Amino acid sequence: MDQDQAKIAGLARLEIPFFEPGLPEIVARNVREGRLGFASELRMATRGSEVIFITVGTPPLPGGGADTRAIFDVARAVAENLEGYTLVVQKSTAPVGTARAVWRAMKRWAPRNSQFDVGSNPEFLREGSAIETFMHPDRVVIGAETERAVETLKSIHDPLFLIETPIVVASLETAELIKYAANSFLATKISFINEIANLCEAVGADVQVVAKAIGMDRRIGPKFLHAGPGYGGSCFPKDTLALSSFARAAGVRTKIVDAAIAANEHQMHRMVSKVIDAIGAPRGKRAGILGLAFKPNTDDLREAPALKIIARLQRRGVKVTVFDPVSMPRARELPALRGVEFAADAYEAARGADALAIVTEWNEFRNLDLKRIARLMRHPILCDLRNIYGAHEVEAAGLRHVGVGRGRPAAPTPRRRRAAGGSPRG
Ligand code: UGA
Repeated sequence: MDQDQAKIAGLARLEIPFFEPGLPEIVARNVREGRLGFASELRMATRGSEVIFITVGTPPLPGGGADTRAIFDVARAVAENLEGYTLVVQKSTAPVGTARAVWRAMKRWAPRNSQFDVGSNPEFLREGSAIETFMHPDRVVIGAETERAVETLKSIHDPLFLIETPIVVASLETAELIKYAANSFLATKISFINEIANLCEAVGADVQVVAKAIGMDRRIGPKFLHAGPGYGGSCFPKDTLALSSFARAAGVRTKIVDAAIAANEHQMHRMVSKVIDAIGAPRGKRAGILGLAFKPNTDDLREAPALKIIARLQRRGVKVTVFDPVSMPRARELPALRGVEFAADAYEAARGADALAIVTEWNEFRNLDLKRIARLMRHPILCDLRNIYGAHEVEAAGLRHVGVGRGRPAAPTPRRRRAAGGSPRG
């Protein structure tokens, strides 16, 4: 159920309102086989439902907290329409304490003698691979405090249990905090490797090799160690700020998460400096930007690093041409992108540019005809902000290569050469 009638009407015609690989097929199959339907009225969705999931947006508030009003609006409507025993599951990402506050509020709103429980069941889906992460999760977290609620939520996840997905049962507050702790840890991991990347540039080391080698330590793990322009999207930026904000309200300072947030902001500035250092005096120059979405396989532009980088380049007087394989229709609507030119493909974005920056690692950018790119550009410089190419390959095609954290050792000094056994004159 959604109150956005246009969205529901679209879904009824099997039109998915965002890009997610595999989702249109799954939705169509389940509608056809009678397991999925759409409603724009709450009663139509709640009538006869034993479990109701609340999955609304919790946008950031100016102070960094999360706006939970939509959760309470839905909870109130659900409470007023309760029939038999109902388990209300708070699945929207919301500050710790929200599920219990919903429970209390619903007790006030629900008809006397009505029977219900409130649970928390945080989601760990990743955009772009949502179906895979739903079907094969690393774990399922159930926040529930009555036996009936625990059993109901477990039975809903039974098919996953059969493939031996671990299920963690916890209190409401613990379940809610797991979600924020997971996202904040991952965001911190990214900020950490970005900081190491910056250090690599200064000392002539290669972050790709550092990340690979530290990731081989199973206590660290190889994932989420890709240096780049900083994390974006609708989750990490918002959730790290919200954690910091509700921790502060609880009298706790989260210095590590705060540092991860600041480092992420700094990383985007560094990317702008990289491009500007590459092209020289910025005014009147042109930059091509490959990739707008905050990551591949989505058309989501929320908190996308590309948007911040573009805005800052424009402020410095750089003209910008962009290309993204999927998010162009959305991008054209954005007031923030009013001043940019939209290219039909990567090569058009490169034409006449003084630098070409890869900001999102879409698969189709992994195998570009670099020689053609070099010929098309005014100054052949590739700023590979996702480290998808090696310097040799780029340089062999006639482009200057700028990566993230791909420092190169300084040429040996004559003295070192002597020590290494080389000819003192050579
Ligand atoms: C994230 C979490 O990964 C999910 O587990 C969680 O369920 C979801 O938030 C959520 O809270 O709903 P998502 O935002 O879809 O998922 O995307 P991620 O794949 O986590 O990427 C987030 C950002 O980090 C992207 O901008 C990505 O480019 C960046 N990133 C990721 C890096 O810069 N380096 C990496 O090594 C990994």
